[in-house]
Amino acid sequence: MSNISNNDILNALKNVYDPDLRKDLVTLGMIKDVKIDGNDVSFSVELTTPACPLKDKIKSDCYDAIKKDIPQAGKVTVNMTSNVKSHINDKKELILPKVKNTIAVASGKGGVGKSTVAVNLAVALAKDGAKVGILDADIYGPSIPLMLGINDKPKVYQDKDLGKIVPLEKFGLKIMSIGFLVDDQTPVIWRGPMASGAVKQFMSDVNWGELDYLIFDLPPGTGDIQLTLVQTIPLTGAVIVTTPQEVSLVDARKGLLMFDRVNVPVFGIVENMSYFLAPDTGNRYDIFGNGGGLKLATENNIEFLGGIPIDPRIRVGGDTGKPIVYDLPDTEYAQIIQEISRKLAAQISIHLISKAAKKVEISLGNEN
Ligand SMILES: Nc1ncnc2c1ncn2[C@@H]1O[C@H](COP(=O)(O)OP(=O)(O)O)[C@@H](O)[C@H]1O
Ligand SMILES: [Mg+2]
Repeated sequence: MSNISNNDILNALKNVYDPDLRKDLVTLGMIKDVKIDGNDVSFSVELTTPACPLKDKIKSDCYDAIKKDIPQAGKVTVNMTSNVKSHINDKKELILPKVKNTIAVASGKGGVGKSTVAVNLAVALAKDGAKVGILDADIYGPSIPLMLGINDKPKVYQDKDLGKIVPLEKFGLKIMSIGFLVDDQTPVIWRGPMASGAVKQFMSDVNWGELDYLIFDLPPGTGDIQLTLVQTIPLTGAVIVTTPQEVSLVDARKGLLMFDRVNVPVFGIVENMSYFLAPDTGNRYDIFGNGGGLKLATENNIEFLGGIPIDPRIRVGGDTGKPIVYDLPDTEYAQIIQEISRKLAAQISIHLISKAAKKVEISLGNEN
């Protein structure tokens, strides 16, 4: 018989907080599978995303809390698992029922690295163990196939069982692109209804399977087409990519306004081409200026997810279809992007949990 009880363990773990969600792990319902064997203790911590930036800290905090409050505990095993929370939205349940979250990557201006960021964030989330898809909805320059090294159009065949189109798979991602519908040589003039029709079809007719995150690479800008798209896609939220220079920031602000108008939360700002580190001297050059993305985020009370430097390897990764987070994971650049993806995943969890809490408040309020 052990003199340790389940309650002892839960009481100890009530002292461990998820710093992002600002509640203790027991209240958050994250502690599962508590097992006591003599004086040995094991349990699982079910995080809200496999890409949790604080995974290691939470794990060691749990271990320390048990050792502190239950001195007689022997071997303590903390298993880290995850179950991504789902964005519940009527429209999403109808069109993408097995996709938990839909994230738009947007920019006010073209050429700021939106697609580069979208691809690398998607690969980074998948590397952490999330189920991820990417849908290239950029009618002006669908570049996801090139950036993922997909040279042919997919043989789009219908899935026998479900009668749906099977997406391509690479780097652990499911991939569909508007580029598969058009010829590289002949520019297509898209109008809003056509673009949204194609994106609708990509949502409903593609067998995405179960996904934690489906990333949409949107066309740059904030015109009618973009507005139509963000109203067509049942979005959990958006990420805005900008460069530090004023012309790009002005357009990024317009992007923030557009999402605000349609009530889609913006989870954060990514500043791309933030600075350049000269490989020979190590000197830093702020080619497009400094601090613009952070300022924009602070002014609007939005998370600054991070700044990605300019580096030829990032460009080469895009041109050769080998995303840097996959191809050169140990470089500082890849690690910066991996961190950005974890911050984004954390913001999504924070949003979903606070939304759920608000719902409870509202329903409690109604009872009174
Ligand atoms: N941080 C970076 N460092 C170097 N080159 C980059 C970086 N981000 C993007 N690029 C390059 O800049 C060009 C434009 O990027 P892209 O992602 O296609 O922009 P957008 O989708 O916003 O039009 C591409 O050739 C890409 O490889
Ligand atoms: Mg692009």
